Amino acid sequence: MTGTQEQLIAELIGFLRIPSVSTAPEHAGDVRRCAEHVRGMLAAVGLQNATLIEAKGRHPLVYADWLGAGADKPTVLFYGHYDVQPADGEWVTPAFEPAIRNGNIYARGAADDKGQVFLQIKAVERLMRRDGRLPVNVRFLIEGEEEVGGEHIEAFVASGDPRLQADAAIVCDTEMFAPGLPTLCVGLRGIVYGEIHVRSGETDLHSGVYGGAAPNAIMAACEIVVALKDRDGRIRIPGFTDGVIPPSAAERAAWDRLPFNEAEYLEKEVKSRALTGEPGYDVFERTWARPTLEVHGIRGGFTGEGAKTVIPCEAVVKISMRLVAGQTAAVATRQLAEAVQAACPKGVEAEFRAFHAAEPSLVRTDNVFIEKSAEAMREVFGKDTVYIRSGGSIPIVGLFEEHLRIPSVMMGFGLPDDNLHAPNEKFHLANLFHGIDAMARYLELLGND
Ligand code: BES
Ligand code: MN
Repeated sequence: MTGTQEQLIAELIGFLRIPSVSTAPEHAGDVRRCAEHVRGMLAAVGLQNATLIEAKGRHPLVYADWLGAGADKPTVLFYGHYDVQPADGEWVTPAFEPAIRNGNIYARGAADDKGQVFLQIKAVERLMRRDGRLPVNVRFLIEGEEEVGGEHIEAFVASGDPRLQADAAIVCDTEMFAPGLPTLCVGLRGIVYGEIHVRSGETDLHSGVYGGAAPNAIMAACEIVVALKDRDGRIRIPGFTDGVIPPSAAERAAWDRLPFNEAEYLEKEVKSRALTGEPGYDVFERTWARPTLEVHGIRGGFTGEGAKTVIPCEAVVKISMRLVAGQTAAVATRQLAEAVQAACPKGVEAEFRAFHAAEPSLVRTDNVFIEKSAEAMREVFGKDTVYIRSGGSIPIVGLFEEHLRIPSVMMGFGLPDDNLHAPNEKFHLANLFHGIDAMARYLELLGND
């Protein structure tokens, strides 16, 4: 490794050490410290107006810009997030003590998304150091609430603030299809996330004395859940999939050319014994272009060590739906709420409460921002850039389109086995270095007109 690379890693470690878990109230101070850290990095590379944008009760947004390229050059808006998912589960080395193993850096947020925010900043730094200026105008908007729905940035993007003026957004928060294969993500699923609250009575009951006569909130919750999706993976919410727009023949054909082996995918990524999902659709379509519904956790009753014979009167199900083109979060939310009511057994009350939502997005590929990004990555990785979709959600992409009318260029440098949201999250160091090269080259190409 070169001295420059070692220096980069040392700096990235400083960023990864901050436990900026946005969903955990006890980490609110760390999230703020992380925002300050990002502002410091942006200012240190020569960007101007580096500031935290605050809103009461929300995690700060970090903004900075450099607009010295001139009005005839495009303005790009870099987007990423400095918040991370919780770090529960079994880690080989602690989540916030970054460690290097086999060419990877392991830490919560390594790929999602601190490593990728870092590479954006370092690409700008490289050009700034070399030329004393940048080939295009740039703005940075780095948020601290992406993993919890992004309310603060949503309000800011809707506000019409002049700092949002840009021709395209560069979003680094997705994955490459395979190691060494340069990838642009051109579609994301939307999401509706919330809880189903179930109540079967006023108090827990002795399961021997009342079992057979009293309703059970957890049994009811399970009944509701199985009514929403059948054993084959078909969603049973009335009308839910009616509007879904299938991928075009050209996009399907491009997916068919991607290197993919289902058995390997099962073994190396899913790490289970069988794939599931809607019959009649292949894995790409099931994960990129079909909606789905998952349960994330069920709370209620007795979950401690040992046994307790109780009929629980309360249960909460954490649940989300992923949405695709042709669906909207508002309609899907209403449909789910109604389906929960319809499936609720007698004597029980159930209610769906939505936390946050994001619309699905599809980006157009016939513009210079996409074309030059594909070209820059082709040059750096030495292979043709592939266009894929992702099943994940990045709420801001739909909002940039809706409020700013700008395309998002999703240049992602994560890998499918980076363990996003799971223990042992990592970022491949070669992707960090190539990512910086590709991003710097992209800015040069954008400035070349
Ligand atoms: N970076 C991910 C989304 C992603 C992952 C896109 C892999 C493409 C490939 C992002 O940080 C994320 O996890 N988003 C959440 C959004 C939600 C909490 C609103 C998601 O998809 O669950
Ligand atoms: Mn992310």
